[in-house]
Amino acid sequence: MNEGQRIEQKAIRNLDQLKQCLFDRIRERPGTRVALYGYTYQTASLVNEFFSVLGDRFVPVCIIDNKRAGESGPIKSCPVMSFEEALHLVPNIDLVAVMIDSPSLTEVLSQVAFSPLQDKEILFVHRFAQPLAEKEFATLVEQSTEALARHGAVWYTDEKNWYCCYQYLKQTMELDGDVAEFGVFQGGSACFFALTMQKLGFDEKLLFLYDTFEGIPQSSALDLVEVNDFSGTSLERVQSLLSDFDNVRFVPGDVMQTFRASSEGPFSLVHIDCDQFAVTQFLCEQVYPRMVPGGIMMFQNYSFGATLGERVAVDYFFKDKPETVLLGYDGAAFVVKQ
Ligand SMILES: C[S@@+](CC[C@H](N)C(=O)[O-])C[C@H]1O[C@@H](n2cnc3c(N)ncnc32)[C@H](O)[C@@H]1O
Repeated sequence: MNEGQRIEQKAIRNLDQLKQCLFDRIRERPGTRVALYGYTYQTASLVNEFFSVLGDRFVPVCIIDNKRAGESGPIKSCPVMSFEEALHLVPNIDLVAVMIDSPSLTEVLSQVAFSPLQDKEILFVHRFAQPLAEKEFATLVEQSTEALARHGAVWYTDEKNWYCCYQYLKQTMELDGDVAEFGVFQGGSACFFALTMQKLGFDEKLLFLYDTFEGIPQSSALDLVEVNDFSGTSLERVQSLLSDFDNVRFVPGDVMQTFRASSEGPFSLVHIDCDQFAVTQFLCEQVYPRMVPGGIMMFQNYSFGATLGERVAVDYFFKDKPETVLLGYDGAAFVVKQ
């Protein structure tokens, strides 16, 4: 058996398996003192079942549940308490069974990992790490796609890109500066940005949206995308999509003309999605000086074949800069301004 298979076999995949594992452990070592993390109906039925089958070989010390602390547990000798209260019982605990199988599992494990409970044996469901399924993010995606569908919009950014936008927004929100998107089309990623900033309470920052709102204005020998591609949109259309957001500012026109003379900025986060070589080169030169230290520049099309001109422009510009161009989870590139 190779290493990967061995690890795979050790992993617990669901709560039924976890229950079985716990049961086996107690039979092997009667009297193991167990703290159960998470008071769900499964926990309650497990405690009662184990008692009837294992009797006094089963020693549940407590159920940890921040939300339901203070409630009486499924049996009197097994109180429900907050994580902080449970820490007083650490000397009486041998094993922690984490009865949670949801995206909040990571939060629970982080809590345990930085407490004295980390020295105990821990049983937990091994979830496949799938960032896109994270609760808060998944809700934001659902709300954005609903709004876009209601307005009949199509969009050219995928969930992995939105996930990076979400992460980078959270990471830069404490910085001074506004947020900008260059290349909006019908407002796909812009809608996600606006909604996320609002939901996370960061809407005191402005969101600037730059586009001709009439399609691609220029193309070069390096570009496959042609003049007038993406013309199926309009300023009014995107304004109507984003009419509920007071912090959104539209800057219509060829950004190679509108941006130079403008006074917008500084920026903490910019999402550059214009596809073409010349405009990306222009934006590197013009936006970079308006980024705050720690601010993030995202280049949406960096690793896609049809838009290699964008990559050429980015690599050329950052060749002699102190920043490194990094590849994101979405295949886009990002740079953190020094
Ligand atoms: C791929 S689309 C953007 C997709 C959008 N971010 C989404 O989530 O669906 C590229 C956009 O860049 C805009 N664009 C390209 N070059 C531009 C320029 N020089 N000035 C203004 N807008 C430009 C086009 O008008 C087009 O709407």
